Amino acid sequence: MKRLSAVTMVGVGACLLMGAADGSWLRRVPAGDHVRVSPLADQKTAAEAGSHVYAAECSHCHGAQAQGKGSRPALISARVSGASDGDLAWLLRNGNSWKGMPSWSSMPEPERWQLVAYMRSINLPAAKPVEGAAQ
Ligand code: HEC
Repeated sequence: MKRLSAVTMVGVGACLLMGAADGSWLRRVPAGDHVRVSPLADQKTAAEAGSHVYAAECSHCHGAQAQGKGSRPALISARVSGASDGDLAWLLRNGNSWKGMPSWSSMPEPERWQLVAYMRSINLPAAKPVEGAAQ
């Protein structure tokens, strides 16, 4: 019994520590936003433009390579790649301020879509190893 409660405590503690970025924001995205498609989806230059916005506005929290920093999650992740364009755009507009993600509603909307394009570009599935190449 004692052991069980110690295990429970450790579990609760781990949840509190990791609770900073649990993806719960995804459940708050309204259906209409979830299905939004980026107006820049066909623009090849959007991701490149977004990388500059990212470097200026986001890298100090999420890391220069979007690798994450402390409680600020990496943006190269299954969660980000699994989120729709609309989900990401919704989070950028609304933020999740009580967990430390600011709202970017004052940023021009095209720049927010450029950021979405950038996040997409860094989350492309890893290229398959070339056949015959050294592992
Ligand atoms: C002040 C620090 C800070 C800045 C600046 C910031 N973020 Fe965040 N961001 C966070 C935190 C903290 C979270 C975790 C929030 C949560 O768990 O809901 C987060 C979450 C996210 C997520 C969701 C990731 C996930 O795994 O759930 C995305 C996407 C994101 N940020 C993109 C951006 C982009 C793009 C910018 C630049 C416009 C940016 N952030 C700027 C702190 C920041």
